[in-house]
This record gives sequence, structure tokens and C-alpha cells, in this order.
Amino acid sequence: MNPTLICTIPSPSPIYEIAMRRDCLSNPGVFMRTLPSLRQRVAVVTDDTVALLYAQHICHHLVVSGIAAELCAFPSGEKSKTRATKELLEDQLFARGFGRDTTIIAVGGGVVTDMAGYLAATYCRGVQLIMIPTSLLAMVDASIGGKAAVDVPSCKNLVGCFYQPSKVIIDPSALATLPLRELRNGIVEMIKKALVADPAYFDFLETHVEELLSLNAAVVDKAIFESCRIKKEFVEQDERDCSKRRLLNFGHTIGHALEVLTKFSLSHGEAVAIGILVESYIAERLGKLSNESLERIQTIFRSYGLTFRLPEQYSIKNMCEAVLFRGQPRFVLISGIGLPFSYGMEVDKAVLEDALGWMNDVVCFN
Ligand SMILES: NC(=O)c1ccc[n+]([C@@H]2O[C@H](COP(=O)([O-])OP(=O)(O)OC[C@H]3O[C@@H](n4cnc5c(N)ncnc54)[C@H](O)[C@@H]3O)[C@@H](O)[C@H]2O)c1
Ligand SMILES: [Zn+2]
Repeated sequence: MNPTLICTIPSPSPIYEIAMRRDCLSNPGVFMRTLPSLRQRVAVVTDDTVALLYAQHICHHLVVSGIAAELCAFPSGEKSKTRATKELLEDQLFARGFGRDTTIIAVGGGVVTDMAGYLAATYCRGVQLIMIPTSLLAMVDASIGGKAAVDVPSCKNLVGCFYQPSKVIIDPSALATLPLRELRNGIVEMIKKALVADPAYFDFLETHVEELLSLNAAVVDKAIFESCRIKKEFVEQDERDCSKRRLLNFGHTIGHALEVLTKFSLSHGEAVAIGILVESYIAERLGKLSNESLERIQTIFRSYGLTFRLPEQYSIKNMCEAVLFRGQPRFVLISGIGLPFSYGMEVDKAVLEDALGWMNDVVCFN
């Protein structure tokens, strides 16, 4: 006898609000009304830069409102997004007696939202998670969609899970303190979304450069809203990154390789901007994308001040190795602005080498 039982667990689809509330972080009354109901204890997870700017105030508002909230901060930057930091945070929570009835509120950039997401997913097998992104990249990308991970020495985001928050609260006024280089990182992710999903949004980003860089409130709010809308629509259709969501990896096959090759001296946005350009060039060489569209893509990045500079010239061989590190690379390719035609195309090595040569000779070192 080989008895077999079928275990069928209905999996409820999580539904959550992504609430844009300008100035809510500086207005305790509005902030408290924007929060969902919280668990018994609250851990505000942040990095040490954002702690001083926002997270300490948030913790203070909570405590003044009678909520048992405590701050857990770790050093800022990608170098902290490790298993070791997660363990330190877990130890802090154990030591302070946090149990299952905990809410974790992530306040910070994508490093914090990734770290806090993974922590919330595994602490006591899962506790409530609220995202309060403070970098543009985290507002438009990292805080939405439930991907949570940490890096290992050889690879980014290799250990993690999917875990959706119960609410995302975005206060775009927090961008006032964000350094310009970090702002540009977020703008690259916005342009990426426009390129794979929405030509009208691309036009908007193309025609509002000054307003976006100078943080004009109406323009920033619209730009963030459209990016969040695109991201949530992709996540709704493909939470686990098996098909359509992969379009959001546009530019990242080359971009991740450049981040690793340059030992992260290029920021994520800078690397992805070059990646988007190279991957657009591949589409052009394959006869799918017009030269005019390729020019438009290059022009929009330059208009936002992205310069496509690599710290040194790498050989085609070394760059190819970096791209091939994770196995046969697959590319998101577009056939026009806002018109993707593949979320996982293999391209010939000769085409890849040609594109990397173009990147070196024409884009980065001309
Ligand atoms: N989970 C996802 O879906 C997803 C998507 C995209 C990116 N990511 C991850 O996000 C990370 C990058 O995020 P990031 O660019 O926000 O980096 P980050 O979190 O390191 O933030 C960048 C810097 O800005 C500071 N900062 C954040 N908000 C600030 C503010 N309002 N004022 C002043 N300084 C502020 C931070 O302290 C940090 O020094 C990467 O690890 C990437 O893998 C995840
Ligand atoms: Zn990215």
C-alpha cells in the first residue's frame, strides 16, 4: 500500500494599500491615522542615517500615542544587507522580548525595506510588516511587491523570500533630504518602468526633468504614483516573478554584472541606466528597436545627469564573464518605448560582445 493524501491549503491573496500621504511624517495626527491597526509591540527597523532624519521621530510619535515602540537601527548602506545583520536584529528582538504579536515598521531605503521584509517574514514564522520607504527607489520599487532578500559575498539578493506588507505609506516630502545621486537611482527605476509599460509615462518623465530634479511636489507625486501603479499591476499578475514581473528586470542583466565588476562603486541606478542602454542596443541590433528610440533613451538619461562613466575600461572577456556568472543570461528586450517583446530572451554571445564593445567605445569612453 502506498497511501497518499492531498493537502490543499487555500492561499488567500494579500490585499494592501499603498498610501501616498505627502507630509504625513511631519504631521503626527495624520501619520497615526494612516497606520493600520498594530500588534502589541512595534519594532521600527531603520538604518543609522534615516534613524536621525525620520525613524526616531516616528518611534516617538508612536510612544506618545501609547504604543510600545522601539527603534532597531543598523549601519546604512548595501554592505549591511547581509545574513549577519539580520541575525543581529533578530538577537536584539529576542533580547527585548518581542514575540509573535509584533509589528515591524521598516523606515528607510531599499536596503532597510529588503532587510526588514526578510526579518518580518521569518521572525516567529512571520509578523506584521509595514513599509515606510524614504528613498525614491524604495518608494517606487523596493517597498512594493514583497520581494525581500539579503546579499551573500558572491551575489546580490541570493537569500530571501516573498512576503507582502500589510501597508505601504509613502511621504514624498522625505525626498527633500535625499542626496541627488540617490534621487537619480530612483529616477532610473521610474524610466525603466515607463520603458517596459507606459509610453505616456515616458513622455511625462521626458518633459518634466527640471521639475522632478527640483522636487516640484505635483510632478514628484504624479511620477511616484505612476511608477507604483505599474509595479503593483505587474505584481498582481505575477507575484512570484515567473513571467510578466520579470520585465522589471530590464537593464538588470547587464546592470547587476556592472555593479559586481565595479565592486559597487557604480550605484545601482548608474549601473542599471547603462544596462538599459546596452540592452536597448541589443534590441536595435536584432532589428526590433528603432535607432530613434535608442537615441531617446540615451537622451533621457543624460538629461537627468546620468553620465554613463565606468571607473575603468574592462575587457570584453571580463565583462562577458561577469554577465555569464549566473549562467546563461536572459534579457528583457523592447521593440519601442513602453513596448516589451521578451522578458527572458537568450542572445548569441557575438551579439552580447558587440553590445559590450559599443558600451565601451561609444557610450562610456568616447
Ligand atoms: N525588493 C525589491 O523589489 C527591490 C527593488 C529594487 C531595489 N531593491 C533593493 O534596494 C536596495 C537599494 O535601495 P536604495 O537605493 O534605497 O538604497 P539604500 O537603502 O542604501 O538608501 C540609499 C542611501 O540613502 C539614505 N537615505 C534613505 N532615505 C533617505 C532620506 N529620505 N534622506 C536622506 N538619506 C536617505 C540611506 O541611509 C542610504 O545611505 C538594493 O539593495 C536593492 O537590491 C529591492
Ligand atoms: Zn533595480
